[in-house]
Amino acid sequence: MKKKEKPWGGRFSEPTDRQVEAFTASIHFDRRLYRYDIEGSIAHARMLARQGILTKDEMKAIVTGLEAIQKEIELGTLLFSPDDEDIHMAVEKALTERIGEAGGKLHTGRSRNDQIALDIRLYLRDEIGQIKHLVGDLKAGFLEQARKEVGTILPGYTHMQKAQPVLLAHYLQAFWEMLDRDEGRLCDCLKRVEVMPLGAAALAGTGLPIDRHYVARLLGFPEVTSNSMDTVSDRDFAAEFLFVASLIMMHLSRFCEDLVLWSTDEFGYVEISDAFTTGSSIMPQKKNPDVAELIRGKTGRVYGDLVAMLTSLKGLPMTYNRDLQEDKEPLFDAVDTVKASLGILAAMLGRLRFNRERMEAGASGGFSTATDVAEYLVMKGVPFREAHGIVGRLVAFCISQKKALTDLKLTEFRKFYPGFQKDIFGCLTVRQSVNARKVIGGTAEETVSRRIKGMGGR
Ligand code: ARG
Repeated sequence: MKKKEKPWGGRFSEPTDRQVEAFTASIHFDRRLYRYDIEGSIAHARMLARQGILTKDEMKAIVTGLEAIQKEIELGTLLFSPDDEDIHMAVEKALTERIGEAGGKLHTGRSRNDQIALDIRLYLRDEIGQIKHLVGDLKAGFLEQARKEVGTILPGYTHMQKAQPVLLAHYLQAFWEMLDRDEGRLCDCLKRVEVMPLGAAALAGTGLPIDRHYVARLLGFPEVTSNSMDTVSDRDFAAEFLFVASLIMMHLSRFCEDLVLWSTDEFGYVEISDAFTTGSSIMPQKKNPDVAELIRGKTGRVYGDLVAMLTSLKGLPMTYNRDLQEDKEPLFDAVDTVKASLGILAAMLGRLRFNRERMEAGASGGFSTATDVAEYLVMKGVPFREAHGIVGRLVAFCISQKKALTDLKLTEFRKFYPGFQKDIFGCLTVRQSVNARKVIGGTAEETVSRRIKGMGGR
């Protein structure tokens, strides 16, 4: 083969335009799939030999050649060029240069269409495994912080208005729950990723006597795909992964939003360590929560990756179309972004310092135990709606008198409802309020501690 001739060049009489070469090439980004491409090719070659389609010697030459190519890529001695088009062509070309004719037999019973589907599946299997670990580490980080903050009271908000006091541990556990679901979604997505596509060839399958199950076994895939047309056009698993990645980012982003707010002078609930903040080039006093802001910002970017993938897929006629080459950059970008965000947040989380006094003081304001007074009345037999009205009037009275609920005397309570007894003073403080919420999933200390044990904490 002459240097410039394409492996598919047989029916062409004109060379490819340089612009077309540059425009259609994916080698500059899909080169990162080289390990998976080689792993898939080795399994394919072994199968071909087992089926008698390749001789043992040809297979050995191919496998040794591919292993050598992998080493060279890793050492940086094998350089790719744009006219290599994509990683599949680049590896095959390098192989043929090394081992000659046998290299040209590797592509038997295979197409780049099923080959790329395999590469992405192998890549995602690997990355999902790593992301699962990172999610696990971050969960452990939230659990660790929760264990330290079982005694800390935090104002709980709805509509960004003080609502009811909760434990900081309860808040931190909420993120553990989100990440736990994310972990489940990753495992579930993996089931759709680990399905072996080779054998679909271009779109119709192959007439050659290949053994797809053997390839799947070699690659550690539990199943093979069932429809060759679906196989080469399917990127559902990638879209699904991007959705899971988007949800992970959304969870991180919501925590980061609270961190940004809580680290303001106005809130002062948390101090992010110096090592995880940055300064201003003009204002010497500044300490900015840039990491948290960037995680929030990068969340939008991962959503963009998901939308890019879905949009690429929506108008595709069956089966493979070159549009599908556009699946890789969003996928790589999302993988890199999620991994980096999970890693840095876990590190930052471990070094947060919560201002317990400030949180508790914040929780005590804003009549945050008003619901407890209403529930007190309910226990005395007052219908809830009526109780709500009574306490609403009590709160209005307090506002006009510039008093807190804890400042009121029993006689004052009785002006609003004669059935108030001394025991009302047992449900007015934030701690009493928190500890009354023993319901499953509630914020009482004993409930939260029990959940921590259930999460695998001490
Ligand atoms: N680089 C291509 C991709 O990423 C590989 C498959 C190309 N197949 C083809 N028939 N042109 O999708």
